Amino acid sequence: MDAHSVPVPPPGCPAHDSGGRVPLYRPEFADEPQAYYDFLRHYGPTAPVELAPGVEATLVTDYTAALNLLRDPSFRKDARQWRDLNSGKVPEDSPVVPLLAYRPNCMFADGAEHQRLRQAVTESMARIDSSRLARITERVSAYLIGQFSTRGSADLMADYARQLPLFVFNELFGCPAEIGDRVLFGISGMFDGVNAAESAEVLYGAVGELVALKRTRPGDDVTSWLMQHQAELTDEEMVHQLSLLLGAGAEPLRNLIGNTLHRILTHDRGAYPDVRNAIDDTLWQNPPIANLAPHYPVADRMYAGQHVAAGELMMVSFAAANTATARTKGQAGNRASLAWSAGPHACPSQRPATLITVTAVDNLLGQLPDIELAVPAALLTWRPGPFHRALTALPVRFSAVQAVGQPTAPPHPQHTTTQAEPAAGQRRSGNAGKWSQFLSWLRK
Ligand code: HEM
Repeated sequence: MDAHSVPVPPPGCPAHDSGGRVPLYRPEFADEPQAYYDFLRHYGPTAPVELAPGVEATLVTDYTAALNLLRDPSFRKDARQWRDLNSGKVPEDSPVVPLLAYRPNCMFADGAEHQRLRQAVTESMARIDSSRLARITERVSAYLIGQFSTRGSADLMADYARQLPLFVFNELFGCPAEIGDRVLFGISGMFDGVNAAESAEVLYGAVGELVALKRTRPGDDVTSWLMQHQAELTDEEMVHQLSLLLGAGAEPLRNLIGNTLHRILTHDRGAYPDVRNAIDDTLWQNPPIANLAPHYPVADRMYAGQHVAAGELMMVSFAAANTATARTKGQAGNRASLAWSAGPHACPSQRPATLITVTAVDNLLGQLPDIELAVPAALLTWRPGPFHRALTALPVRFSAVQAVGQPTAPPHPQHTTTQAEPAAGQRRSGNAGKWSQFLSWLRK
C-alpha cells in the first residue's frame, strides 16, 4: 500500500468534513467497518481518527506496529497523562470519557503498580475451577433458554448474550440476590448509555457493599480471593478492580457470544462443527473490542514513521490489525489474533471467557437445533461506537420447545437473600429482581 497516495474515503465516509480525521462514532462506521479500515490503511501504519466530536486519536492499524506499541514501556497507560483531556480540549462530558478517563485499577496502571494490581487479578481468576465455571454457565444458559424456548422466536442479544455473562459473573463473584440485582442494573445501564452516571453510581455502590460483605463473610468466590491476595488491596482498590472485572468482562463477553452466534448463523449449517473454530474466526475477523488499548507517549517521538507528541492519545485497532495482511488473516487453529490485545495489558481472562462462550453457544445450539436467523443477514444492524463490534439485535426463530433445563445442583450456600437484604431506600434498581428470580429458579 502506498502511504503517500491520496486516500479515498469509503462510501458515505464523512472524513473530509472532520478536519481530515476519520470519525469512528457515526452509524456509517458501524455499518461497514472493514471499508473504513481499508481506507485508514492508506495513511500507513497509523491514521488520524476522531472517537467522538472533538476527541482526536492516532489509531494503529498495522499488526506489527500494534504489537510494538503494546510491548513498548515508553508508552504509558496512565490516562492522567492524556494531553487533550488535561487541556480541556476534550469535553469532560464527552461520551468516551467514562471509558478512557483514569481510574485506580490495573487497566490504567504502569510498571510495578500494574504488576501488583494485575497479579491480584490473574491469580484470583486462575483459581476459577473450569468444571465449576462450565456448570454455572450451563445452569444460567438453561435458565435463560427456558425463558424464551416456548415462544419459538427470540432476540439472542437481549434474551441471551446480554444477560448470560452478568448472571455468570454474579455467581462467580459471590453476589447475594439484592446486590446482584443492582450489579446487573448498573452494568447494563452503563453500557446502554441510559442514565450512565446514575448506573455507575448504582454499580459502584453495590460493589462497595459486596466488598464490605466479603470482608466479614468471605466465600469461595473471586471477590474473596482478590481480597485475600497478597497484594493486600484496600477497599477502594477492591471496588475499582471488581468494577473493572465486571465491566471489562460483561460487554466484550456478550459480544463474543453474539458475534460467534452471528458467524454460525450466517454460514452454512455444518460449517462450524466445532464452536471453537467459530470463536477463532470471530476473534480474527469480528473482534468484540475493535479499537482500544489507549496509550500515551511519555515524550515527543517518532513512531512507525510518524511524529507523535507526549500525552497524545494513541489506540490500537485490533480489528484492522487482524485483517491487515494475508499473513495475519484468520486460519483455523491460528490463535495469534490481537482480539485479546498483547503485551503486559493483554486480557487476563481469555481462558474463562472462552470457556463461557463455548458453553453458552454449544448449549443454545444443542437445545434449539433448528435455530435460524429470522431476518436476512443484510438487515442486521450494529451498535455505533468507536470501541466495540456489537450487534443491536440477533432475531432468530426455532421450533418452540417446553422450557428446557432444570437445575442440576443445589443452590450455592451464599445465595440467601437474608445475607444482604438492602436497607430501606437502598433498592435503587429499576431492574430489581432478575438475579433474585434466577436464584429462586435455582432453588426450586
Ligand atoms: C470473563 C470475562 C473478561 C474479564 C473478567 C476481562 C477482564 C479484563 C481486564 C481486567 C483487563 C485489563 C488488563 C490490564 O490492563 O492489565 C482486560 C483487558 C482486555 N480484554 Fe478482557 N476480560 C474479559 C473478556 C474479554 C473478552 C471476551 C474480550 C474480547 C475477545 C476481551 C478483550 C480484552 C482486550 C482487548 C483487553 C485490552 C484492553 C486495553 O488495553 O485497552 N476481554 N480484560
